[in-house]
Amino acid sequence: MTSSRSRRAARLGGAALAAALLTATQATTALAAPGNPGEPRYSAGAPSLGDPYFPDQGNGGYDVRHYDVTFTYDPATKVMDATTVITAVATQDLDRFDLDFRGPQITSLKVGKHPAAYRRDGQELVVTPRPKLKTGEAFTVTVTYAGTPPVVTDPDGSIEGWVPTDDGAFVPGEPQGAPAWLPANDSPADKATFTFRATVPEGVTVVGNGRLVSTTTANGKTTFVWDSAEPMATYLATVTLGNFVVNETTTPGGIPVYTAVDPRLVTQSAAAVARIPDILDYFSSIFGPYPFNQAGAVIDRAPDVGYALESQTKPIFSSAPGVGTMAHELAHQWYGDSVSVGKWSDIWLNEGFATYATWLWTEHTGGATAQQTFNGSGNYGRAATSSFWQIVTADPGPEDMFGNVPYNRGAMTLHALRGKIGDAAFFTLIKDWASRQRYGNASTADFIRAAEEVSGMDLKAFFDVWLFQKGKPVSW
Ligand code: TRP
Ligand code: ZN
Repeated sequence: MTSSRSRRAARLGGAALAAALLTATQATTALAAPGNPGEPRYSAGAPSLGDPYFPDQGNGGYDVRHYDVTFTYDPATKVMDATTVITAVATQDLDRFDLDFRGPQITSLKVGKHPAAYRRDGQELVVTPRPKLKTGEAFTVTVTYAGTPPVVTDPDGSIEGWVPTDDGAFVPGEPQGAPAWLPANDSPADKATFTFRATVPEGVTVVGNGRLVSTTTANGKTTFVWDSAEPMATYLATVTLGNFVVNETTTPGGIPVYTAVDPRLVTQSAAAVARIPDILDYFSSIFGPYPFNQAGAVIDRAPDVGYALESQTKPIFSSAPGVGTMAHELAHQWYGDSVSVGKWSDIWLNEGFATYATWLWTEHTGGATAQQTFNGSGNYGRAATSSFWQIVTADPGPEDMFGNVPYNRGAMTLHALRGKIGDAAFFTLIKDWASRQRYGNASTADFIRAAEEVSGMDLKAFFDVWLFQKGKPVSW
């Protein structure tokens, strides 16, 4: 599932789909070119979707609908044996296409029933399907691989991908870790549904996104089947595994909650875990209905990771979180997971929203008001001379995308916007944003448009000061 354009196209039939996906330029070229106008014109899918922060990430020429990932993993040997079946639809006539894959040795690759030639070049897995694929054609890619999936290092030095722990593996994928363990179109702009079928030694628990469909134990091994029915960005996929104490409950508002906590962290994380139902119900009241059929959290011990991630339906924590971090990751389910960025420079739409949500939660529970937090020394109280003000909120760069600016200046932007347009318009805006952009990809420009629409105000100068200019805003 790609943009709203291709999601609309997905509801059309084959021929209509092909027509809907032809851009004006492509259509003109097709008419001007010699030869039979009805004949397919095969070419290679783009090896990138052109995100300047991660130029190799994502691929063109097809739209993934579903990933079905089956694997065994043994924490003792760190060896994975996996088969991933990708179901996709060609968006151009394809004689070649790329997947993103950083995983171990491939032993077989098929497109449909036919073994396909492939080669690996960095994170690109270049596939040559025969027969070739026609625009609008649905196809499967079956990739079998075995070995130890890698740890991936980010531009800021953080690690992600497949991170072994002392009792399993911690599996975060933002912004580029998912291809460590599954071949994928690794762009937030191509969401898909997922099924994971993970077999591990009996006693190990695997926690994936979505709902637990089944748990089957035989011959000392347990297979967990997790199904993510709502569209999900690849970076939000997880199959974090290890020793966990599992609990299931339902919030008073009716949201099912599955928590898995490392036994060594149960006491330290008890306060945050206990608040999950209240946080979810409070956010539902201000952001609109919880977007997925399952909620929860995975609290693990992965000391080298040092951050938490909003993995869809099951945020993962690399240590015992406080209530604020729990609220932050749960807020991301609306802002980040359901409504996602399409390009990484818009990361403030994820992090600014999740940060502002925790300000609101803090005020709601009798702590500092959002205004007091805005004024605080980590926020607007920072001196005008601080280097903090020298990073552009709406384009922080890959090294600072998870730095303070998208989080704190992002949250300040929302609080300042609330002051500018008033509480009624602001809370309508953020609720509408969650419902109108549900399961999709949205940009900063889309948000500015929505804010202007709801408020009836011209907000160009406001957003220019807060999002696009360096320097501490003095008036807006
Ligand atoms: N998105 C995460 C959060 O704020 C943080 C995160 C994801 C991160 N990947 C990262 C932080 C890589 C540093 C480096 O909830
Ligand atoms: Zn966040």
